[in-house]
Amino acid sequence: MRKPDVRGFFDTVTATWTYVVYADGDEDKRCAIIDSVLDYDIHSGRTETVSAARVIDFVRKHGLEVEWILETHIHADHLTASSYIKETLGGKTAISKHILKVLETWEPIFHNEVDTPLNGQQFDYTFDDDEGFSVGSFEAKIVHTPGHTPADTTYIIGDAIFVGDAMFLPDVGTGRCDFPGGDAEDSYDSSRKLFNLPDDFRMYVGHDYPPEGTRNPQCMAKINEQKLNNVRVHEGISKDDYVSKRNKDDEGKDVPNLLLPSIQVNLRAGEFGHKTKDVQYVKFPVDKI
Ligand SMILES: [Fe+2]
Repeated sequence: MRKPDVRGFFDTVTATWTYVVYADGDEDKRCAIIDSVLDYDIHSGRTETVSAARVIDFVRKHGLEVEWILETHIHADHLTASSYIKETLGGKTAISKHILKVLETWEPIFHNEVDTPLNGQQFDYTFDDDEGFSVGSFEAKIVHTPGHTPADTTYIIGDAIFVGDAMFLPDVGTGRCDFPGGDAEDSYDSSRKLFNLPDDFRMYVGHDYPPEGTRNPQCMAKINEQKLNNVRVHEGISKDDYVSKRNKDDEGKDVPNLLLPSIQVNLRAGEFGHKTKDVQYVKFPVDKI
């Protein structure tokens, strides 16, 4: 199997990995960008494009053509730069069709239907479960891997898989399952779907939170390493044990700093929405979260 090249960019503020998937030295310059980051200061409401600029510079330097701008899910801890990247480099924004559930969940909190359509049309494309597609000359496929959120999607591109927060590196485990629509049982089932993939497939994670003092942030582990060593879901751990520990550890967890702006902006594929005069706003609902 031909293997795509994967370049990861780590955003230290949100511990997020953004990926460019491409074929180095190939005539086919099409690439995918996965889970980009728009810098956002919660105190001032100011955005910056420092994280996105590193990705954009890389794409330009390698003469790549952006085919897809993919999201593994609606992130709750950072804003996506997908809209900014699309404006700057082109490409189609895409996410799983399960985003419709997430839109429905949040509409009664934000009442943003006027600029956040519930049919998902703000994304250029919404994938069906198990849908095949391509990135340049690489075959690709979607796998629905819910648990962290109901819309979490894994993208399989050649032998590289991008799992978002469905699973983290072996010494970190899995993503929290306490967001609306999250479900620890689904998270366990998703890990088993991923373990059905070939042992030598490369799993790229959406964040890394290295246990203190152990190592620098990393982004990839092979499927067999995850099966053997993932602290939460390695082979041999029962569903009941996983679910009770996951739920116990998620109890009382802090709301992520950027939850409110992230959800609103990410549900609009990276847009801040309608303006009042020439100003854009983020809503902070009172006593709703
Ligand atoms: Fe997430």
